[in-house]
Amino acid sequence: MRPILCGATALLRGLGVLSFGWVIASHELMAQDSAQIAVETVRRLKGADLSGNANLKAAVERVVDQVRGKPEMVELIRDFDLKDRVPDLVVYLKQHPAEDAAVDAARYIAKVDPKALKRILAEEAVAAALITSIGRVGGEEVEAALVDVARSTNRPLPEREAAIGALIGSEAGAAQVLRLLEAKGLSGEPAARVIRDLQKVRWPEIRSAAGRLAGAEVGRGADVGKFDKARIFQMAGDVRRGAEIFRRPGLACLTCHQVGREGADFGPRLGEIGGKLGKEALYDAIMDPSAGISFGYEAWLVGLRDGEEVLGLISSETDTELVLKVAGGQVLRYPKSEVLRRDKQVPSVMPAGLHEGLSAQDFADLLTYLAALKPVAP
Ligand code: HEC
Repeated sequence: MRPILCGATALLRGLGVLSFGWVIASHELMAQDSAQIAVETVRRLKGADLSGNANLKAAVERVVDQVRGKPEMVELIRDFDLKDRVPDLVVYLKQHPAEDAAVDAARYIAKVDPKALKRILAEEAVAAALITSIGRVGGEEVEAALVDVARSTNRPLPEREAAIGALIGSEAGAAQVLRLLEAKGLSGEPAARVIRDLQKVRWPEIRSAAGRLAGAEVGRGADVGKFDKARIFQMAGDVRRGAEIFRRPGLACLTCHQVGREGADFGPRLGEIGGKLGKEALYDAIMDPSAGISFGYEAWLVGLRDGEEVLGLISSETDTELVLKVAGGQVLRYPKSEVLRRDKQVPSVMPAGLHEGLSAQDFADLLTYLAALKPVAP
């Protein structure tokens, strides 16, 4: 370790950082240049143990002061593990909540002083962007604080919505939001919006619970849940009404399926589905999509280098490119170098619980319509 540190000190001295760098840097432009050089220099020392070398520590601290309030400051504090600089990070976080480095700052604060983020969120008037950035850190402490923000009716709506948005990003958080809704901790238009968002998350149990809430929300409580199969098949269905129900935007069938030229090219085409599946199989396909996923329609969760995750079908793949199709039919192409991982998902991309806003008669009509979609005789 010792020779490395000596080398490091020599490197700093050679660049004028240790001894006279700050004297030269009186002119503002030069100060900027020298700050840049100093940052570059100390970056190379990343991982060095500063506790054994007071000179080196002092040099790094000076560079941190030089770039105070800049993203580089966040990077250096984190990389050199300067725990007593957490207050500087808190100031940065509040002044630049929407910048990428804000999330890095919040992550480091969470590591060193987990309660600090909670305290920030508990303050009065927190910028929505700040809530979003802190929300990306995750963890129990943060989630609990976000739930508090989400349910405080005396806070402005943007703050509460930012907290809810951050919670919905993780399964545990989404489950908390669901509990909040069930306990009527949210109401009115925000609640309706949140329920819609929860119906799109990728955790099937949360989606279907949200579907049930949506059903209750529009006052169809009596029909929510599974239908009595025998009763459905006894009911006379109306093809015309079924066709209308199939096209209801709220059911979203056409955002994933095509009938003729209508709808999006994503899931299997349904134009001739009645020739393939009888009413019973159609019932199962809608009620429990994950039970029999059609070949080639398995869902993949693809993790990208920039942290984004995309849920879709893999429509093709070469040595250098992965092509995904997502709900709505858009085709997204990613260079393989961007793709960090991909996991096959057990549940179908087709959400369970789509029937939950429908009455038994609606459902019987829908099945009758689908069963009537048959190949046209030549
Ligand atoms: C988010 C996209 C999505 C939505 C919305 C969606 N589906 Fe699907 N659906 C799929 C995918 C993908 C499959 C194939 C995988 C599977 O079988 O689960 C599928 C399969 C099916 C099948 C079985 C097809 C076969 O060839 O076996 C039927 C029937 C069906 N969907 C009907 C519907 C109806 C009716 C609606 C509206 C109430 C609907 N889907 C909404 C994506 C969707």
